[in-house]
Amino acid sequence: MAEFHKLATVDEVGPGEIKQYLVEDRFVALCNVEGELHAFEDVCTHQFTHLSEGEFTDSEVKCPLHGAKFDVKTGAAKSLPAVKPVPKHEVKVENGNVYVALNPKRVKIGGRRGRRR
Ligand code: FES
Repeated sequence: MAEFHKLATVDEVGPGEIKQYLVEDRFVALCNVEGELHAFEDVCTHQFTHLSEGEFTDSEVKCPLHGAKFDVKTGAAKSLPAVKPVPKHEVKVENGNVYVALNPKRVKIGGRRGRRR
C-alpha cells in the first residue's frame, strides 16, 4: 500500500498556482488546475532544473531552462527538448490537508543514448 506524506493544507496552493515541496529527499511540485490538485516530480526530464520555477498556465508548465512543456495532469512531455514524462504522484485530500504518495519512478538525468556509428 502506498505511503502518504503530508504536503500542505488545501488553501496553500490556490487555482493557477504551483509550489515546490521537499518530501524525503525528493522535490515535489504541487499545482492547482481550477481547484484540482496535481503533484509530480519537480525535475525536468531534459536536464536538471525545477519545473515549479517555470511558467504555469492552464494545465501546462513550461521549463524555465529550455522551454519544454509538460501536461501537469498526466506528466506527459508536450514539446521538445523534453521527450520523457515527469512521474506523477498520487494526491489525496483529507480534513483540509493534502497528502502525496511518491511515485517510485524518478527522473533520471544525464543518461545518454547509445551513439550510432
Ligand atoms: S532543462 Fe527543461 S527543457 Fe531543458
